[in-house]
Order: sequence, then C-alpha cells, then structure tokens
Amino acid sequence: MSTSVKTEDSMILAAKTVAENHIESGMIVGLGSGSASSKFAASLGELVKRGQLKDIAIVPSSMQAWLLAEHNSLTLYSDSAHCPDSLDAAVDGADQISLRTRSMIKGGGGALLREKIILSASKHSYILVDSSKVTENLDRSIPVEVVQFAVNSVHERIKSEFNAEPVLRVLEKGYPFFTESGNVILDCRNFDSIEEPSQLELSLKSVPGVVEVGIFNCKVDKFYVGGQNGSYESH
Ligand code: A5P
Repeated sequence: MSTSVKTEDSMILAAKTVAENHIESGMIVGLGSGSASSKFAASLGELVKRGQLKDIAIVPSSMQAWLLAEHNSLTLYSDSAHCPDSLDAAVDGADQISLRTRSMIKGGGGALLREKIILSASKHSYILVDSSKVTENLDRSIPVEVVQFAVNSVHERIKSEFNAEPVLRVLEKGYPFFTESGNVILDCRNFDSIEEPSQLELSLKSVPGVVEVGIFNCKVDKFYVGGQNGSYESH
C-alpha cells in the first residue's frame, strides 16, 4: 500500500477517534472546512445514523462545511446567521501546525474568518492534520483577509512594515477569489520562520482593513497527526 493511501487511512482513523471519544449527544459542534473536516463529518454522520449519538447541532464554518453536514445527514444549528456564544466542541484541519507554540496557519480554503470565530467560541477543539503539516516554527504563507476597499493600503503596509510579499489570491484564469463575507485574501509569503505567532497575529490584525489573519493561537485541546504508517499520534 502506498504511503499516501496509508496517510489517508490514518486521517480517517483519527477523525473516527475524535467523533467517538470527544463528541457526546446533545452537543453543539463547530465544523471546519477542508478535507480533514470532511472525514470528521463522515465519521460523525455514521455515529448519528447508527443512533449512537443524538441531538447533535452543527455550526458550519463555510458553505462547504454546510454541504458536508447535509451530505452526512447531520442537523444544522437552528440559527444559520449567527454563531452561538458558546459551542461544546469544534473540529477542524489546518495548513500548518507548530507543536512548540501550539499555533496554526489556516485559511487555505478561504474560511479563516468563520473558522477562527468558531474555534474561539468552542469549549474544546480538536485539529486533524497529516504529519507533513507539522513544523517547529510556522513558516508558510499566511492568508490575510482584507476588505476590498483597503486592499492596496494593506498590501503596501504588509510589504513595507512586515517585509513580506503579499499576493492577491486569484482563481483559475485570474478571476479574483472572494471569501464568503465578500472580502479578498492576500497570501503573504516570505515571513521568516515565525517564533512568536501570537505577536505577529496581533500586529497584522492592527492594520486597518484587515478582517482576519490566518495565524491561529486559540487553545487546542488535541492535535491529531496522521502518519505515513496508517496510524496517528495525538499531542
Ligand atoms: C479552510 O480555509 C482552511 O483553514 C482549512 O481548514 C485548511 O486549509 C485545512 O484543509 P485540509 O484539511 O483540506 O488540508
């Protein structure tokens, strides 16, 4: 069996473990976006279909997560326009994690704003990633969500004050990418290895026009890391 198939298996196993060990009947559960969240939604849906879990209410972080919930016959939280002030648990993926600082880079799919709101409002949170995403210090490009009106000024300030290289996210053929809140994303490359992610998160957020930053420092209960041997580790 190839290592990529084994990694996929390890992620499915980790998603199943999170659904079985951390989710209880009656919970309000935040659902992240992306492939890891999709594996968790499938595992959770199975438990609900079998009657092992009841009265789960899902708060989706994006239209994609909303579709995942529907596809897996999961019930959505009744107020689709507002995130509840407190969720019991949130499960999500990440683009990169540092186990040293327990921080993450997220927003590869553009859902960072709602994902951060959900993770920050959750009593418990669980993150599923494969081992290729684990690093000592965060160092990949950081998605920064910006209101359209401020795209030029934010671009300039990130370049001059942070010495980074912001690139407007576009779709195939150059069409601009808009988030579900109607904003654009600057993917900011060339940050040096980030030793203090919480500091950088705050500094970037203080630039007028920045709506959210893809550096996440919210508390994570457990990182589940899928390996190439078909099993996972939790940290
Ligand atoms: C969505 O905007 C992202 O934050 C995702 O949660 C992140 O990109 C992880 O996605 P995968 O689980 O697909 O790698």
